[in-house]
Amino acid sequence: MPADTTPDTLHADQVAFWSGEGGDIWLAREARTDAMLAGLGEQALTAAAAQSGEVVLDVGCGTGATSRMLARAVGPSGTVLGLDLSEAMMAEASRRAAADGLANVRFAAGDASAYAFAPGSTDLLFSRFGVMFFGDPVAAFTHLRRALKPRGRLTFLCWRPFKDNAWAFVPFVAAVPFLPPMPRPGPHDPGPFAFGDRDHVRRVLAGAGFADITIDPIDDQAVFRASSLDEAAALAAEVGPMTRLLRAAPEAARRQAIDAVGKALAPYMADGAVRLSTACWLVKAVNPS
Ligand SMILES: C[S@@+](CC[C@H](N)C(=O)[O-])C[C@H]1O[C@@H](n2cnc3c(N)ncnc32)[C@H](O)[C@@H]1O
Repeated sequence: MPADTTPDTLHADQVAFWSGEGGDIWLAREARTDAMLAGLGEQALTAAAAQSGEVVLDVGCGTGATSRMLARAVGPSGTVLGLDLSEAMMAEASRRAAADGLANVRFAAGDASAYAFAPGSTDLLFSRFGVMFFGDPVAAFTHLRRALKPRGRLTFLCWRPFKDNAWAFVPFVAAVPFLPPMPRPGPHDPGPFAFGDRDHVRRVLAGAGFADITIDPIDDQAVFRASSLDEAAALAAEVGPMTRLLRAAPEAARRQAIDAVGKALAPYMADGAVRLSTACWLVKAVNPS
């Protein structure tokens, strides 16, 4: 961690990003990203096994695709709260839930590491890739655990290390020579790959007071449907860690970077799509008391 960064400044950076530009970018690309994450999300929802009548919290819920599925799983006698930093995403999530006629899900804009949850109120904490952005993850998961009832469950998905996720790694390595230099994040700094190290995830959850921790790998593929390599490159460049760098780059460098991404994706293009491996952890734990 560079000398001028602390858990608080790292956290503040994530809050600023997702409340603003990050949320807007996610919203603009949401349909394709959601398609990419749908299969993984379904596996996590199956593992979470939400039951009729349960109270569920969906952390970092984005536009609420998983919150709506959870709302259907818990039925009219259950409730789901979707929580996210982005006001724009919460407005869209509410609109979609209303359009689907779901009355048992609501959405709130807020920071999950500090939100005023009713203590001991929740049966299930769920997240599809929304819990890797806390500056102090032990403190954040301690706070989240206190929202759970005794024996309440935690189920979430997070990415395994960057180098194991070709969907992020292949475009990044191709583009990075053309992009402005970026500070190298520490291995556990908040961001999509903060929970790549299984031992670190276990330490965080144990430190936060969780028990019965299981962390299992899921291997899958990200599919970027595109009619040309240029289109695939534009898509692949807009998800993952280089989105911010690309936005900050001068136009000429941006074009060179996307060109290089296209070339790097060529070996992965077949039948109208680029397929790149995804590697994540399915994490489960229980609040013991
Ligand atoms: C990678 S996106 C995943 C969104 C959604 N779960 C999905 O699968 O479509 C991560 C989400 O976590 C949210 N997030 C990050 N830090 C958060 C925090 N401290 N509190 C609440 N939400 C947070 C972001 O705003 C973003 O919407």
